[in-house]
This record gives sequence, structure tokens and C-alpha cells, in this order.
Amino acid sequence: MKLSRRNFALTTLTMAGAPYILRGQPAGLRARIKIDTERVIGDIDPMIYGNFIEHLGRCIDDGIFNEKSPLSDANGFRKDVLEAVRKLNVTLLRWPGGNFSSNYNWRDGIGPRDQRPPRLEMAWGTVESNRFGTHEFLNYVETLGTQPYICANLGTGTWTEAQQWVEYCNSAEDTAMTRLRRQNGRRDPWKVKLWGLGNEMDGPWQMGHRSAEDYGKFALEAAKLMKWTDPSVKLIAAGSSNFGPGSDWTAWNRTILEYLRQHADYLSLHCYVGNRADDFGDFMASSIELDQRTKTAEGIIDAALSGQPGNRKIYIAWDEWNVWYRARGNQERGRRILEEHYNLEDALVIATFLNSFVNHAHIVKIANMAQLVNVIAPIFTNDKGLFLQTIYHPLALFANHTKGKALQLFVDSPKYKTKRFDDVPYLDVSAAYDNGQLVINAVNRHPDQPLAADFELEDKQFSGPVAVSEVTGPTIKSENDFDKAPVKTVERSTTAEARRLRYTFPPHSYTMLKVKTV
Ligand code: AHR
Repeated sequence: MKLSRRNFALTTLTMAGAPYILRGQPAGLRARIKIDTERVIGDIDPMIYGNFIEHLGRCIDDGIFNEKSPLSDANGFRKDVLEAVRKLNVTLLRWPGGNFSSNYNWRDGIGPRDQRPPRLEMAWGTVESNRFGTHEFLNYVETLGTQPYICANLGTGTWTEAQQWVEYCNSAEDTAMTRLRRQNGRRDPWKVKLWGLGNEMDGPWQMGHRSAEDYGKFALEAAKLMKWTDPSVKLIAAGSSNFGPGSDWTAWNRTILEYLRQHADYLSLHCYVGNRADDFGDFMASSIELDQRTKTAEGIIDAALSGQPGNRKIYIAWDEWNVWYRARGNQERGRRILEEHYNLEDALVIATFLNSFVNHAHIVKIANMAQLVNVIAPIFTNDKGLFLQTIYHPLALFANHTKGKALQLFVDSPKYKTKRFDDVPYLDVSAAYDNGQLVINAVNRHPDQPLAADFELEDKQFSGPVAVSEVTGPTIKSENDFDKAPVKTVERSTTAEARRLRYTFPPHSYTMLKVKTV
């Protein structure tokens, strides 16, 4: 549904929050939220603020890594990019792909850089120089102070390649693999904890794509070897990325978990959304689909673990997610690909996705926005500098402030209807509680109406000022660029009464409220 002032009047008559208006209070959108700090969904895993770099387009080459740029350090890392990435508080970095990983031989990317073999890269149609490999990636991760997540090649790769990659990175024994590592300049193991058992193996576009049965059997043998090499590693099974018509995504997950339920620690799922129909209301409701898929996947995991020996847990890793539709065709090839240029409505959708991860904190323990630089990314560079895309701002706010326990909220919000969904709350909200500090993240999904919200704190009192960080812009289509930044974070403060916080969220906005409680 396209929202306009005219059909908004109709919507208010049918929406759940209508009693507010009928009782003679001022017309307009109003919502009521009850917060009880003892009603906990789960611990928010910091790894939901992960990101992803792939050998794709200008993400690594010319994005984070450019040996020839005057803006780079001695390692070839772009310093301006590093600084912008640091402010995003990236807690986990996935590499080397993506589709790229399904034909990647890690042995090509070690040893003296000038002697590494250039290879035809078939996922994205370039030549891979291999100058950025395992050492460069893990050095980048250490420079950032984040955690690595390596996705093994379970497409064209072998069990031994995957096993030896773990040995090369993690073993402290004296073996041919660890001697090679030392010879290449690294004495101590890196102890990489998170390893992916392939990428999007459910997709026919994937090199080495298999049926669920064949993938399950193959991944199980890889998993055994990887865990026997280092029992402390955590493995991420390639769950669904293919939700298109005709794909039975639940069956894929059910089948692969039959094989992997004693070995996988996470189930990877991917989600990209877009607004091809230019339907703001429906696009803004995309996180509802994410919620539904999370719940369905949780049920499949529960079923797979039911009756199993031990007390195994498998969590969900949304290890690729973002808005991606403009720079997307049938088969992108070459260097300047997937360079999506984001606007304000995209940033709002990003905030609703982050709300969804927080609202499912008990089961979603990893999430990686895809990707970090240039390629469907919050940071965009040219050879002179960079700019922060609109989606950078909600991600930075969440990653820097939303931690601790996720709270189960009572939310009474007016709702609207879209092509895909019947009951979409205008107010999308999550809350986190950490050491007396309450953080509320709210998106007003209405394009042109403010939304007045009453937050009632059930078991505590607000104390001190409320810090307000608001991401909005002149219109829902406003974009940032090298020479302009109409979409940004604006900081201000407000006050709360003892147990009540009233706040009016501007139209098409994302707001973080941060306040102490006693
Ligand atoms: O992130 C871009 C691509 O999207 C990844 O390479 C692939 O895993 C997914 O289809």
C-alpha cells in the first residue's frame, strides 16, 4: 500500500491504537509501551554486530586494502577506512566470502605476496591476485581488535583443505602446516574460533552447489575433521539463502540438521530485501518477514535437537543481511559491482532488522551485515576519501550502545496493512538493559506523521536526562554522498518523569533513547 495523508485517515479508523483517538485525545499516532527490566528475552550477543568482507568488486581490493594508495598504511590498509570501521564497533568479521569462498584455495593466499598465483575468479568475474590472504585478513582483524570468522570452501574444496586451514591457523603442534605458518612469519596460532561450513550451498548459483542430502553428508565429514583438529572451534552450517518461489527452504534446513545436529553450533541464514516496487509501507515492514523466518528456523532447530543426547545448542547466524536491490541483476561481473547507494528509508529498514535481532536475542547470536566497504556497504570510498552511507548511522548506534539483556516489551501501537502483511505496527521497538542503563530503539514507520509514545517503566524509576540520538533526513529518499550528508545522527536530550517517558518520534525516523534507571 502506498501511504498518503488521504489513506492515512482511513488507516487510523481501523488500526489497533484507534481507542486513543476515539477517547477524545488529540488526533495523531499514539503508542503505549510497558517495560519491565525483569522480563528478559535473552543476552544480546555482541556478535550480532558483525560485518563481512568478500573478494568481490571493490570491497577488499580498493576498499579496505590498497597497497598503492597514499591513504594506506604500511600493510596496505586504508587508514581512513580503518577509522570509519572502528567507529562501527565491528565485533566479528566474516571472510573471504560469500560466493567467492566456494572456489577459494587458501594455499594461494599465503607466502611472499609477489609469488602468489593470480587466478580466474568465477563468482564475480575478475582475476584474484591473492595478495590479500589469510595473514592479511587476520592482521586486519587484529588491527581492528575484532574477531575473525572464516568461511571454508565446501564447494570445490576438499575435506583436507578445510582441515588443514584450521590446522594452519590454530594448531600449536609442530607440523608441516604450522611450520609453513611460521615460515610465513607467524609463530603463534591465531586461534580462529568461528568457521563456516561453506556458503549458500542451497543456491544453484553457488560453485559446488549440492542437494541438501549431499551437502549434509559432505559437511559432516568436514566438520568432524575440523573439530578433531581443534575441538574449541565453533562451526556454522550453511542453512538457507534461497527463499525464492519453488525453493523449500525449511526442508533444506531440516535435512542438513539431521546430519549436522551434533556438530554445527550455528545455522547460517541470509536475508536481503529491497524496494523495487517503490512501496514505502511494505518495504518498511520487511523485518516482519525476518521475524517469521527466525521463528520458523528456531522451530526447525528445536525439532532437530529434540531427543538428542547431551545438551547441545544450535543458534541462528544471520551472517549476511542488508538492503540490496538496485545494484542487483542476474549475474554481476567485474570490479564496480554491487555498489548500492543507500537512502533514508534503507537506513530505517536496517534499524528494524537490528530491532529484530535484539528481539530474538535468545536464538540469534550472530549477524553480519553484508558487506563492509563499497559492496552493499555502510562505507563508500573513492581514491581521495570516503563517505558514510545512510545505513552506517543506525548500525553504529546499535553496535555502540545496545547491549546487555534484551527486554520483552508490551507494545500497543497503531497498525497498517501492506501488500504482504496485515498488521504492521507503526512503531517498531526493542529495548536493552545493562547495569541500570536502559536503551530503547524505535522506528516510526509512518512516512509523514509523528508518533507520540508513552513508555511506562514497571519495576524501576527513570533517573537523570534521556540522551536522544535521532537518524532522519529531509525525505525518505535522501541520500548521502561525497559532498553531502543530509542523513545523519542528531543528538539531543529530554527528560522523563519517575516512571513515565513521553516521546514523540518524528515521521520516518529511527531514534535511540538512553536513560539510567534506579
Ligand atoms: O554479499 C553478496 C553475495 O550475496 C554473497 O557473495 C553471497 O553469499 C550472497 O548471495
